[in-house]
Amino acid sequence: MSVMRTKSIERSIADTEEPEFRLRKSLSALDLTVFGVGVVIGAGIFTLTGRAAHEVAGPAVVVSFIVAAVACALAAMCYAEFASTVPVSGSAYTFSYASLGELFAWIIGWDLILEMFLGASVVAQGWSAYLGVLLGQLGIPLPEAIGYGGVVDVMAILLVIVLGILMTIGIRESMRVNLVLVGVKLFIVLFVIVAGIMFINPANYTPFVPDATPREAATGLMQPLLQFLSGSAPMAFGVGGIFAGAALVFFAYIGFDVVATTAEETKNPQRDLPIGIIASLVICTVLYCAVALVVTGMVRYDELDPAAALANAFTHHGQAWMATVISAGAVAGLTTVVLTLMIGATRIIFAMSRDGLLPQRLAKVHPTRRTPWVISIVVTVIVAVVAGLTPIGVLEEMVNIGTLSAFVLVSVGVVVLRRTRPDLKRGFRVPGNPVLPLLSALICVYLMLNLTVETWLRFLIWLVIGFVVYFAYSRGHSRLGKDDGMYLNPAEPRVVGRDG
Ligand code: ALA
Repeated sequence: MSVMRTKSIERSIADTEEPEFRLRKSLSALDLTVFGVGVVIGAGIFTLTGRAAHEVAGPAVVVSFIVAAVACALAAMCYAEFASTVPVSGSAYTFSYASLGELFAWIIGWDLILEMFLGASVVAQGWSAYLGVLLGQLGIPLPEAIGYGGVVDVMAILLVIVLGILMTIGIRESMRVNLVLVGVKLFIVLFVIVAGIMFINPANYTPFVPDATPREAATGLMQPLLQFLSGSAPMAFGVGGIFAGAALVFFAYIGFDVVATTAEETKNPQRDLPIGIIASLVICTVLYCAVALVVTGMVRYDELDPAAALANAFTHHGQAWMATVISAGAVAGLTTVVLTLMIGATRIIFAMSRDGLLPQRLAKVHPTRRTPWVISIVVTVIVAVVAGLTPIGVLEEMVNIGTLSAFVLVSVGVVVLRRTRPDLKRGFRVPGNPVLPLLSALICVYLMLNLTVETWLRFLIWLVIGFVVYFAYSRGHSRLGKDDGMYLNPAEPRVVGRDG
C-alpha cells in the first residue's frame, strides 16, 4: 500500500544537506532549554492553576501537576529518543514518516499544524488581553475597539507581525530575544513563589484532598467524551478530581515537544535535543508545583478566584501592586509562547513541503538568512488574521487534542522503529521499551477521552479536511512517491525502511 511507504532515516538526513533546503545549524543545548521553557510557561500556569484547584482538585492540585508531568515525561522521553535518532526538522511528523509510513506522517503533520497555528493564535489573543489589563493598571487604558475583544484585535495583529519579521530575519536573532523574555518570565514566576511563601497559612492545606462531591454535569456536546460514552456522572474532588485536574493542567505543559522541531538547526542534535527537551520539562515541573503549593497555601481552595488566581491571591492579602507585576510577567511570558509556536509551525510546514506533501516551492530557504522565508510569511499572515479577526480564544482544547494525538503516534513510533531499525544510533533511549512508550500512549489516549465531545467533532472535521488534501494533492506530489531516483521502490516500503 503506497500510503504506508516509509521514508528512510538516511534519506531524511540527506535531504537536510541539499543546499536549497539547508537551515543554519547554530543552536546549543542551552538554547534549546531556553526555547522549551519559553514555549511551555504561558497562559496555563497563570490561569489553570486556580481553576483546577477551585473546581476539581483542591490543594491536591499540586499532585495533578505531578500526574500531568509524569504523562509528559513519558512522552518527552519518546520525543527525545526520536529526535536523537532522526535529527531532522519537522518533529513528530518526520519521526512518523520514518516509522509508521506516509499517511500517518501526514496525519501527524496536519495535527501539529493545528496545534501550533491554533496555539499561536489563541495565545496571541491571551497576550492582547493581558496587555489591556496591564495598561489599565498602569493608568493608560487602550481604546476598546483595537484591543482584546474589540472589532479588530490590532494589538494581537501587531504582535504577530513583529514576531513574524523576527523569525524571518534569523533563528539566532529570535533566540536572543527569546532568551531575554524568558529571563523576565522566570523572574516573575520565582517572584510569585518567593513573595507568596510569606503569606502561606498551613491551615489552608487541610483538607488536602477534599471529599468527592457530585459535579454539576456538563451535558450535550460540552461533556467529556468518556462521560458521553460511559454515561457516568462526573465527580469533583477526591482522587478522581486529581486526575480531572491533571487533564486540565496538561495544557500548561504543552510545548516541550516543539523543541524537536528545531532538530536541524542544532549543532549536536544527538546530545543536545534530549537535554533540551527533558531539561525544559524538569524546570517547568518544579516551578509549576511550587506555584501550585504557594497559591493554594495563600488562599483556601474554595475561595480562590478560578479566573485569575495568581494575581488575586496577592490582592487577597492586600498586595494589589503584585497583580501589576504578574500582568507584566504574563505579557513578557506569552510573547515567547507565540514566537516559539510560530517558529514550530514554519518548521513543520517546511519539512512537509520539502517532502512534496505540500507545494515544494514553499520550502525555499533564504540564501543568506537561512530561514524558510516564504513559509514564515505565510504563517505570519494566517496567524495574524486568525488572532486579529476571529473569536478563537475559546479553542484551547483543540490545541490539547492536536498535541495529544501527536504524542500517541510518537510513543507508538518508538516501539515500531526499535523493531524495524534496531541498528540505528540512538543518542538517547527510552528505558523499559516497549512498556514505557506504550504506557505513554495509553495515558495520552485517556487524557484525550477527557476532552469534550465538541472538541472531538471539530478534530474529526479537521482530520477529514486533511484526508481530502492528502488524497487530492499530497499523495501524487510526494517526493518519496515519485521515486525520483534517490528513493528506492516505494512499492517495497519494508525494504526502504531497512536499507534506505
Ligand atoms: N504551555 C503553554 C501555555 O501554558 C501552551 O500557555
